[in-house]
Order: sequence, then structure tokens, then C-alpha cells
Amino acid sequence: MKTTLKLTKLLLALMLVISAGTMYTGCTKEGPTGPQGPAGPQGPAGQDGQDGQDGKDGKDATLVSAADSAAFTAADGVTGARLYDHVLNEIELNDTALTNHSDFYRCKSCHGWDLLGRSGVLIDKVPTASYPAAADVNLYRWAQEHNIREVFDAVKNNSGRNKSLTISYNSTMPNFGNLLTDTQIWDLVKFLKETAHNVNEFYDLTTIGMYPTGTKIFSDIGKGGDPVNGKTVYDANCASCHGSDGTNINIYCKGEYLGDMFRDDPHEIQHKAVWGMPNDREHIDAGCSDAGMMPAQNITDQDIRDMMVMGQDPVAFPGFSK
Ligand code: HEC
Ligand code: HEC
Repeated sequence: MKTTLKLTKLLLALMLVISAGTMYTGCTKEGPTGPQGPAGPQGPAGQDGQDGQDGKDGKDATLVSAADSAAFTAADGVTGARLYDHVLNEIELNDTALTNHSDFYRCKSCHGWDLLGRSGVLIDKVPTASYPAAADVNLYRWAQEHNIREVFDAVKNNSGRNKSLTISYNSTMPNFGNLLTDTQIWDLVKFLKETAHNVNEFYDLTTIGMYPTGTKIFSDIGKGGDPVNGKTVYDANCASCHGSDGTNINIYCKGEYLGDMFRDDPHEIQHKAVWGMPNDREHIDAGCSDAGMMPAQNITDQDIRDMMVMGQDPVAFPGFSK
């Protein structure tokens, strides 16, 4: 009996030493892996995955019909880009109840030239009685992740989203089904899904703070493009109107030359340099003789980058106030 007690004590002491040892060294030993358990029961059936177009979201897909695909194929993304810039000027709508508040109908006013809404270049754009609040959606990514029918419905405002049935100058997305034909809406879908630029390929944008009081800084404008080719492209395509140093057109007659825009507004350059702009009726009506329409240009994305780098030189492309 006594020996067993002693042995138990000894064992206990030994166990203490061992456990202390493992605590100090952290050395635990695992036993061998046990046998595999039986297979679990079958999971529930997956959700409808028939997303005809991009195949990315397999959830409750809105089906794309053959007619949708045909309309998308026939659509024109450049017209879409010009509609995105200024719906009312592109369709030459003359109803002053709308045209007097055109910023509330321009996609770019709420979504930005970069399609990034309040997280992008609009981060510092404070809304006013004459300028809407920026949308809180990355429209570039949203368009990539939704099929053409979903994008069409969202633009047409078919989707049951909060919409303005009457004319309104608030920041809710207007009901474009009241203004645009289906063909024009398909042009916008084409622009959003295929034509629109990923602006990261043209410059870097750093934002600080929160909408609408944040700040933005552009860097690496033109992403290392070739300014010599930029000048060749510029002379061949732009100089006849803007002048060889960009000072022929005082943009909007507001004291801005192309040189200012290359350095301060690359987000707008990436759009207008290639897709131009519809007739600038507001500034023509305001008596600006430099205002007008800019035709779309037949240039590549690399040409735009090259011109962006060219335009960083303030001697070759002076600013309005130098
Ligand atoms: C006055 C502001 C405003 C204008 C102008 C505007 N939008 Fe929007 N748009 C919004 C807001 C806000 C949202 C997101 C919230 C919502 O569902 O209403 C949105 C959402 C969208 C969506 C769907 C994304 C989502 O999250 O559901 C698409 C697509 C879209 N807009 C395209 C356009 C196009 C194309 C134009 C121009 C023809 C345009 N928008 C003009 C404010 C605007
Ligand atoms: C046929 C004449 C013409 C050609 C060619 C042309 N532009 Fe323009 N551009 C204009 C006019 C007109 C405006 C509008 C000015 C206004 O309304 O104040 C304009 C506006 C712009 C704007 C927008 C200014 C703003 O803030 O809205 C940019 C950027 C621009 N042009 C860049 C270019 C570039 C880059 C090229 C060459 C690839 C080019 N343009 C070729 C006539 C032209």
C-alpha cells in the first residue's frame, strides 16, 4: 500500500515535471490521424445560375434574351459615351424645364467621369441646389458584374429601384425610360460594359478623407507614355481645332486651356480625347464663342496616354494663367 502511494506521488511529480516541460517548450505531440468519418448528407440545390452573358453571378440570374444580345451587339458605345457625358445635349432635347437643370441628368454628374461615384474623382464635389450628390456605387465594377439585361433595366429604371416619375432635381437617379429610346439605352449599356475605360490604366488617383469633403491627388498621369508619339498624335488629330499648344480654345470660356486639363483633369481627358462631346449648348447660349461640339476621335488608349504625358509640359502646353 505504502509503495503504491509512493509510486502515485512519484508519478504525480513526474507528470507535473512533464506538463511543466511541455508548457515551457510548447512541444506537444499529436497522436496519429483517425480514420475518415462517413460522407455527410447532400446539401440543398444551388440557386439559378443561368446568367447568359458574363457568367459571373450565378444568383437568381435575370435572363438575357436573344433579342437583348442582338440589341447589345448592334449598339454603339461611342454614342453611349456621349450620352453618359450629357444626355440632354446628345439627344438635343429642348424642354427648358429639364435643360435648365442639366447636371441632374448627366450620368457623369452623379457617377463621375471615372464611373467611381463618391469614391473616385467626385470625392471633393460638394452637392448644391444646382449639382446633385454623387452615387455611392462603383459603376465600372457593377457593370462588369451584371449581365446586359440587368444593366439595361438599371439604366431604364425598370428594376423597381426608387425612381422619380416626375421631373425632379434631387439626387435620385432619373427615370431615363422617360427620356431615352431603348436603342439609346443599349448604347449606354455598351458604353458601361465594353467601351468605358478602366481609369487605372491612365493615371493613379489617391483620395484622402470622405465624400464630399475629401481631397484627391492624381499621379503617374499617362502611365509612362511616350510624349513624342503624343505630340505626333496631337498634331494630327487635335491641333487643327485646339492649336499646336492647346491655347486656341478657351474651354467653356472659363479660363482653361488643354494644358490645364492635361495636368489637372486627366479623368476628363481620358473620356473626351477619344469620344469628344455633344454640342455644348449651355456655353453657346451663354455667349461663349469658343464653345461647340467635338467629334469623336479615331485614336487608341495608348495615344491618349502618350498625349497625357506630352501635356505635362507647361512650356509646350501652357496653362491659361501660365
Ligand atoms: C442625379 C443622379 C444620377 C444620375 C444623373 C444618374 N444616376 Fe445612375 N444612379 C444614381 C444613384 C444614386 C444610384 C445608386 C442608388 C440607386 O439604386 O438609386 C445609381 C445607380 C445606377 C446604376 C445601377 C447600379 C446599382 O447599384 O444599382 C446604373 C447602371 C446607373 N446608375 C447608370 C446610370 C446612367 C447610365 C446614367 C445616365 C444615363 C445615370 N446612371 C445617371 C444616381 C444617378
Ligand atoms: C473639330 C475640332 C476639334 C478637334 C479635332 C478636337 N477638339 Fe477637343 N474640343 C473641341 C471643341 C469645340 C470643344 C468644346 C469646347 C467648349 O465647348 O468650350 C472641345 C473640347 C475638348 C475637351 C473638353 C473640355 C471640357 O472641359 O469639356 C477636351 C479634353 C478636348 N477637347 C481634347 C481634345 C483632344 C485631345 C483632341 C485630339 C485627340 C481634340 N480635342 C480634338 C474641338 C475639337
